[in-house]
Amino acid sequence: MAFSIFSNKDEEKRFSEAVSKIKRIIVVMSGKGGVGKSSVAVNLAYYLASQGKNIGVMDVDFHGPSIPKLLGIENRRLDSDRSGKIMPVKITDSFHAVSIGLVLDSVDNPVIWRGPMKTSAIKQFFCDVQWGELDFLIIDSPPGTGDEPLTVAQFLNGRAESLIVTTPQEVAISDVRKSLSFAENLGFRNLGIVVNMSHFVCPHCNEKSYIFNPGNIKRMADDHNTEILGEIPIEPLVSECGDKGGFFVSFYGKTPAGLEFENIGEKIISKKKE
Ligand SMILES: Nc1ncnc2c1ncn2[C@@H]1O[C@H](COP(=O)(O)OP(=O)(O)OP(=O)(O)O)[C@@H](O)[C@H]1O
Ligand SMILES: [Mg+2]
Repeated sequence: MAFSIFSNKDEEKRFSEAVSKIKRIIVVMSGKGGVGKSSVAVNLAYYLASQGKNIGVMDVDFHGPSIPKLLGIENRRLDSDRSGKIMPVKITDSFHAVSIGLVLDSVDNPVIWRGPMKTSAIKQFFCDVQWGELDFLIIDSPPGTGDEPLTVAQFLNGRAESLIVTTPQEVAISDVRKSLSFAENLGFRNLGIVVNMSHFVCPHCNEKSYIFNPGNIKRMADDHNTEILGEIPIEPLVSECGDKGGFFVSFYGKTPAGLEFENIGEKIISKKKE
C-alpha cells in the first residue's frame, strides 16, 4: 500500500477541493531568522490585494506567529461557520488571514508542539478553513528548513512557489543558500530572492548607502539559477507600521521601500504559474 500523508480519503478530497480553488500558493521563507519574511509577506499580500487580487495569508510559524500583530488583528479570533468550517479573519473583503496566534488565549502563551502537531495544524489550515476562491495564498514560514516548509511542500507536491528573503550580509546568505537548495529539492518553483534591508536611502538627498558589508547575492542567485526580484531598503517606517499593525505599503507606497514592494509585487504577478 502506498504511503499517504492524509489520514483518509475524505481528508484528501477536502484538501484537493480547497487547493483547487487557489490559483497560486507562495511560500515566503529564509534560512535565516529576523530577515523580514513576515514583513515582506504582509506587505506583498497587501499590495496584491490592492491590485484587485483575492488574497489569503496563512501563518505556519507556530512558535513565533507575527502575522496577527503585523496585520493589526491580534485581538481577533478565528470563528467557524454553520458547517463547522473555520472562517479566516477578514482584513478587507479580498484579504483574509489564518494564524495559530488567532487561536491562543494570550500572546504570552508558547506553542509547545513537536512535528506531527504542526503537520496536523497545517493540514487543518488547508482542509478546514473556508478560503474560497483565491488568486494568491501567501504562506509565512518560520526561519530554516524544518517541519513547517517541509510539510507544506509535501502536501502541495510541486504545486507551490517559493520566495526567498535574505538580508545582504554573508552570514545570512550562507544560510539562505540552504533554503534555495531546499526549495529545489522539494519541487517548489522559486520566484526569486528578495534582499531586505539591503541599503539605506537618505531622506534628504536620496543617496543610497550600503551600510552592511554585502555578500555576493548575485552569485548565489546565479548558482541556483534564479534572480534577485528586488532590494528593499532599511526604512524605519516599515518597522513602525509593523509594530502598529498598519500596512507600510498602504501609507508609504511612494517611498523608495514602498516602490520596491510594488516592483516585486508586479514581478510576481507577471510570473504567471506555468
Ligand atoms: N525593510 C525594513 N526596514 C526596517 N525594518 C524592517 C524592514 N524589514 C523588516 N523590518 C523589521 O525587522 C524586524 C524583523 O522582521 P520580520 O519579523 O518581518 O522578520 P522575520 O524574518 O519574519 O523574522 P522571524 O524569523 O522571527 O520570523 C521587524 O521588527 C520588522 O519590522
Ligand atoms: Mg516571521
